[in-house]
Amino acid sequence: MKIAMLGSGFIGRFYADSIQGYRSKDKIVAIYSRKEESAKKFAIDYHVPFSTIVLEEAIARPEVDVVCISLPNFLHEEAVMLCCKHKKAVMTTKPLGRNSAEAKRMLEAVETAGIFNGYLEDLVYTPKFIKAQQSVKSGALGRILWAKSRETHPGPHSDWFWDIEQAGGGCILDLGCHCVEIGRSYIGKDIKPIEVMCWADTQVKPIDAEDHAIGLVKYENGAIGQFEVSWTFRGGLDLRDEVMGTEGTIWVNSFLRTGFEMFTTGKSADYVAEKAESNSGWLFPVGDELNELGYNHMFMDMFDALEKNTQPRETFYDGYVVNSILDAAYKSVKTKQWEPVQLDIWRGRVGVSKDAHLPSYDDDHYLVKEEVTHYGASKLILKNKASGRIVERVVDK
Ligand SMILES: NC(=O)c1ccc[n+]([C@@H]2O[C@H](COP(=O)([O-])OP(=O)(O)OC[C@H]3O[C@@H](n4cnc5c(N)ncnc54)[C@H](O)[C@@H]3O)[C@@H](O)[C@H]2O)c1
Repeated sequence: MKIAMLGSGFIGRFYADSIQGYRSKDKIVAIYSRKEESAKKFAIDYHVPFSTIVLEEAIARPEVDVVCISLPNFLHEEAVMLCCKHKKAVMTTKPLGRNSAEAKRMLEAVETAGIFNGYLEDLVYTPKFIKAQQSVKSGALGRILWAKSRETHPGPHSDWFWDIEQAGGGCILDLGCHCVEIGRSYIGKDIKPIEVMCWADTQVKPIDAEDHAIGLVKYENGAIGQFEVSWTFRGGLDLRDEVMGTEGTIWVNSFLRTGFEMFTTGKSADYVAEKAESNSGWLFPVGDELNELGYNHMFMDMFDALEKNTQPRETFYDGYVVNSILDAAYKSVKTKQWEPVQLDIWRGRVGVSKDAHLPSYDDDHYLVKEEVTHYGASKLILKNKASGRIVERVVDK
């Protein structure tokens, strides 16, 4: 694949490291950046033959197969519309839009133009997530009841993130977009999110947007998603998921305490990991960030889909659903009520009822619980199907 990279900042460089790493055959052939010196530096670092400070010039290059948008949130729509104009396949970093209206316009535009569209949500491509989701899909956890995802760190690194107009929101949009898509993926992307309840506040930073939030997303089948996001967390980048089902549990720690621990006095200290707050004392480095954060598997899926003319696992439609859930979260912060998720476009299942799943013990009873006690008795808690009465049976050994 020949790629035009739009943006040479934090994520543009992570993407470039992933795309061109490991002796990859995919190459960045054009780089756009706002400042000439940044475009040129990126071109030198990644051996890119063409650099420009004119957005359309990078997109329109005839040799470009696919455009990768790594620009601040307020520029995603403009860049997507230019890809539609030039009929270029496009992949966009998260969040798709600053809100659902922007995301919907982008979704409709790429589909009208008939171009490939990929949503770069790396955290549903991490090796741990992929493995965890396989277990969920195989039924190892039974029916999923609750899926929590947490992303917290000490705050982003560029000025525009902290400007509510340019970013579109605070940590709910910036980090909640990851957590919501993780929750959707565990619960089932075909299950409709129906309502959101969210608390948010600006607890620390001198900004107009929220710097800390906790939200609940209710799904049509009765499952609940939970997101915990913060730009005020101290101690690095905390990325964790917890999934609870009728038959099992998964806990995933993707970044901080992953089993790699190191102590240094700080002599010759260097980069440790994304958003690490210190490079001395006890540290938690990350072995291979490109892999651990899902970038490699994400681009593999994107480029495989492009080559095979199929859809990647994450498309603009997913970005639109995520933006719609987050819009409801922002509304709920204001009203302090459960707010409905407004989805003008919904392609999943509808009318999925909340599963009753009452486990029968025998013809007359449901099984509430079965347990072997520390004193060797086997206890059964049963509910009579007709009377509703709860009874206990103890079987002594
Ligand atoms: N894990 C992830 O998926 C992840 C992580 C970080 C950022 N992002 C997303 O990537 C996008 C870019 O974020 P970033 O962290 O790379 O930002 P950044 O500030 O580091 O880089 C932004 C790039 O956009 C260019 N640009 C063009 N016009 C600009 C303008 N008017 N103001 C500022 N920059 C301008 C800059 O030259 C720069 O190359 C955002 O949408 C962000 O949400 C995704």
